[in-house]
Amino acid sequence: MAMLNVTHDFLEIADGEVVTITPASVDIEDAEGNKVERAPFHVDTDASAAEKGAYEFYMLKEIDEQPAVMRTLEQKYFDEAGNILIDQDLRDAINAADRLYIVAAGTSYHAGLVGKELFEKIAGVPTEVHVASEFAYNMPLLSAKPFFIFLTQSGETADSREVLVNVNKLGYPSLTITNVPNSTLSREASYTLLLHAGPEIAVASTKAYTGQIAVEAILAKAMGQDKDLEVAKNFDLTGELTKVANGMQALVDEKGQVEKLAADVLGTTRNAFYIGRGIDYDVALEAALKLKEVSYVQTEGFASGELKHGTIALIEKGTPVIAIITDPKTAAHTRSNVQEVVARGANVISIAAEGLATDKDQIVLPEVHPLLTPLVSVVSGQLLAYYTSKQRGYDVDKPRNLAKSVTVE
Ligand code: M6R
Repeated sequence: MAMLNVTHDFLEIADGEVVTITPASVDIEDAEGNKVERAPFHVDTDASAAEKGAYEFYMLKEIDEQPAVMRTLEQKYFDEAGNILIDQDLRDAINAADRLYIVAAGTSYHAGLVGKELFEKIAGVPTEVHVASEFAYNMPLLSAKPFFIFLTQSGETADSREVLVNVNKLGYPSLTITNVPNSTLSREASYTLLLHAGPEIAVASTKAYTGQIAVEAILAKAMGQDKDLEVAKNFDLTGELTKVANGMQALVDEKGQVEKLAADVLGTTRNAFYIGRGIDYDVALEAALKLKEVSYVQTEGFASGELKHGTIALIEKGTPVIAIITDPKTAAHTRSNVQEVVARGANVISIAAEGLATDKDQIVLPEVHPLLTPLVSVVSGQLLAYYTSKQRGYDVDKPRNLAKSVTVE
């Protein structure tokens, strides 16, 4: 990305190689001094897609782009007859596995948590999700036929790559789901699926998270269909992604409401909590990461039911608690957890799906398929994080101590 204003042609260098550059030539040698012949590759990405336009910060631009990313993914991964455009090779390889191992870091790890729900419920395959930096040096006991999925916006995260290098040594098949074609993790995995989200510049990842979840859903449906599973065949994913895109649009169109909530509830706080159950807990983790990384508010995501096992001791008058409620099975339980924190003085924002909402909920989410609710509920969390950071006068796109691509372990 950093070089697209200078060139669109790049030459890959592998580990251990030595390159001699003169004004007239580029020579590559391997560690033994043998000459390496390698053709450059071309990057099509339009540099203007990385411009901020009228936006003050990339993060808001990228939040606003999410409905378009959903529509692009529909076009890229479905033909007009509704067939899924994922190579049969990949589908066969992944369906031959007895267990999926999703490996990722940060926001991509959180997208993996939602992926587990999708792969288990739509494709019927047991799925584990691992933090890359932990997995790299403490590999769990693997199943007989593992298949690895690397989720990475940049495709360059060193922690994830370390795992992929080991996976390749062990000879296991792998897929990288990434936003960056030709990135290291894309080149080194057996298969790649792209997010087609356009360049993501803000350090805080937003559209890559929702893109990753949508691609996981498409892959899960393809896998389930190939296995003739009713749940997959009946999942009208193009229709559902259109609903998601419209729902996201409605949320970003009403961002002024979230801006006010951020000022009222998160304005000067030093800490905050996100709570939820099941898939809402997955989003609570991601929304908490967003808030902490751009606004420096110490924020934790908790499974609502865990509060009473210790964390509720931290709730005092004015502590912000943000509850995500989209699952009818657990809504009543989470609401009772909300009552418990209100009784201790918490300042609550509740984010509820339309069908479960009451007039006390501050944010009402448009109805979407129960497995796709993270795609809309996270938008509110992203906007709360954005406005809290902006209202505090921070550089939203470049939070302190963080880099966009984390290329060290
Ligand atoms: O490029 P990757 O998706 O592999 O990056 C992983 C994390 O470093 C990244 O998601 C990080 O957590 C973001 N800053 C979160 O907004």
